[in-house]
Parts: sequence; structure tokens; C-alpha cells
Amino acid sequence: MDEFEQIVDKLCEASRKQFVNPYEYLEWPKQLDPEQWCTSPELISLYGTESYEGLPEAQRKRLSFYEAVNFFSLNIHGEKSLVEGLAQRVYRKSNAVITPYLHHFLDEENKHMVYFGSFCKRYANKVYPDRKMVVPREFAPGEEDFLFFTKVMVFEEVVDVYNLRMSNDERLVPIARQINQIHHREEARHLVFGREIVKRLFDHYAPTWSPETLRGIREYLQGYIVATWKEYYNPDVYKDAGLQDPYGIQQCAFDHERCRAHRRQVSEKCLGYLIENGLLEQEPTL
Ligand SMILES: [Fe+2]
Ligand SMILES: [Fe+2]
Repeated sequence: MDEFEQIVDKLCEASRKQFVNPYEYLEWPKQLDPEQWCTSPELISLYGTESYEGLPEAQRKRLSFYEAVNFFSLNIHGEKSLVEGLAQRVYRKSNAVITPYLHHFLDEENKHMVYFGSFCKRYANKVYPDRKMVVPREFAPGEEDFLFFTKVMVFEEVVDVYNLRMSNDERLVPIARQINQIHHREEARHLVFGREIVKRLFDHYAPTWSPETLRGIREYLQGYIVATWKEYYNPDVYKDAGLQDPYGIQQCAFDHERCRAHRRQVSEKCLGYLIENGLLEQEPTL
């Protein structure tokens, strides 16, 4: 067994040992008091901007509820395409080593959608729609797999920073804290897997790609990282929280220096890993 196979083996064992039943694990209050924090204030997309600073506390808390609905909706959409991509790859000959772990990955992401979706449906009666566009195109050998797993890794790394911070935030209403906690527990394993697989795929395929292909892949990834962050600034959230000019607020927040600094700080570890291992040559402009 090589080192990678050993890691996969250990991850499978951990998934089996720490198996979670999402229907039993969480205690759902019948209603959510809107006067409570559902997102840590510092993680609210508008935090530090003039539109946030001018809000009374009750409205900040209301905004924190819709931000949680958006964060959980983003996770659902990310997980939907993740499950789709994992299902396509399970039992592929070239994936024999990782197939046992793909079963756990699939199972766990499906369970995550169960609790993210329950929160959104129970308390907001909706999931915010997916705004990501997928344009079909041709891929160089190995490119599609590499991009799939790298996009998953980037998405999960950012989410996990939020999960971890909120799972320790005593200000949060218990159900929001617990959802962040349980997601972080399972994601910790996905992150280990993600880092290993993207490096492995890159080291295997990158030497076969032409300089143009490699440049195109890097540009695509940089664009993906920026697009992923854009989704954290959702005008529907601002509208639902009763704010005026939701599109103006979105643009203003996305361009705001405090928000840019926040995005750079949250992405730091993930971008560091991509650059250290040569997957990216430079950071995208966040
Ligand atoms: Fe997940
Ligand atoms: Fe995950």
C-alpha cells in the first residue's frame, strides 16, 4: 500500500467509526426567534460596511438569519454538483483506489444536504436558487477530473473556515451552531482527501499539458474562486432582511476594502496550498 492508499484507508475507517444519522443528531426548535444570531456577525457579508454599521441590532440579527439561509443554500448547490460528480467517478477503473472512499463522500454529502435543506425549508420555507452557470466544453486528458476535485477543495476549504468559526460561537442559536459543528466534523476528512487528490492529479497530468492548457486551467481556477466568493453576497438576502437597494449594497460590499481583506484572510490557507504545490502561480484578485 502506498502512502495515498493508506490515507484513503484511514479516512474510510474514520467515516465508518464516526457515522452520523442526520435525522437523530439535531434537535430542531419548532420556530426560530428572529432576535438571535444565526451567523456570526463578523461573517455576515456586509460586516464592516456602512450599510451594516447603520443597522439596529434587531435588523442585524434578521440579516444574520438570511445569511445563514444563503450559506446553507450555497452548500446544498455545491453538494448537489459534488454528488453528481462523485457518482460519475465511482467504480471507474482509474479510480479503484479511491472508490471505497467515494462511497463515504457521497453518503456524507447527501446527509449534509438533509440538514442544510431542513433548516432552509423549516425556517425560511425556501432555498435560494443556484446562480452558477456551467458551460460545456472540451477537456485535455485529466483536466476534467483535476478541475472537479480542485473546485470541490476550494469550495470546501472556504466553507470550513466559516463552519469552524461558527461551531465555537456561543452567540449563535444552538441549531445554527450545531449544524456548523457537525458539518465541520465530516468536512475535516473531505479536506484531507481533497488536498491529497488534487496534488496527485496535478503531479500526474500537468507534465502532459501544453503551456496554453495549463495557463487556461489556472485562469479558470482563479475565476472560479472569485465566482465562489461572489455567491456569499446575495441581493435576495438583503431584500429579505428589509434592506433598500439590494443590488447596490451587493456591489458596494463586494468592492469594500474590509470585505476584500476578509476574503483574502479566509482564503489564505487554501490559496497558500495551491501556490505551494504549483497548482496556481499567483493568487486571484479577491
Ligand atoms: Fe458537505
Ligand atoms: Fe464535504
